[in-house]
Amino acid sequence: MSETDQQLRVSKIQSGTVIDHVTAGEALHVLAILGIDGSGGETVSLGMNVPSEQMGHKDIVKVEGKELSQSELDVLSLIAPDATINIVRDYEVVEKKHVEPPETVVGVLACPNDDCITNAGEPVETRFDVISDGVRCDYCGTIVREDLTDHLQA
Ligand code: CTP
Ligand code: ZN
Repeated sequence: MSETDQQLRVSKIQSGTVIDHVTAGEALHVLAILGIDGSGGETVSLGMNVPSEQMGHKDIVKVEGKELSQSELDVLSLIAPDATINIVRDYEVVEKKHVEPPETVVGVLACPNDDCITNAGEPVETRFDVISDGVRCDYCGTIVREDLTDHLQA
């Protein structure tokens, strides 16, 4: 069911991507994972702890003028498994997708092991395999299970 005009907290967008049903509290991490910090000039709107029938409370992220690809978005499944991706054109939702855990996450997370080759100043991109309860560094085997967003690459 759509929000009524009275309930709408964040304006509709003309075109771009609406990331809806984000786990409450994760909106800023969603932006961090997508590498969106405002420097690209895109208009970004956030709703945090918005009341939701399905989830109690949810966060919502709207990125205007940018259609994010499935692979960009799948990495969000690690922190927002219930997220719905709405591609909007001309004010209409033209596509609705769900995030799915990717097999690997490349160049998004930093390995917490100081001795890992990825922390040795070599030109090596980080690479983690997604496992059932976390992610595992491809290079040194270190497993990160909790607080993945504390391990986002700078
Ligand atoms: N939305 C938007 N701008 C638009 C169209 C939609 O910001 N031009 C937002 C809506 O506010 C909503 C989300 O995109 O948060 C999905 O829109 P829609 O599919 O119309 O809403 P629902 O049917 O409530 O979605 P769902 O069934 O996924 O909960
Ligand atoms: Zn490692």
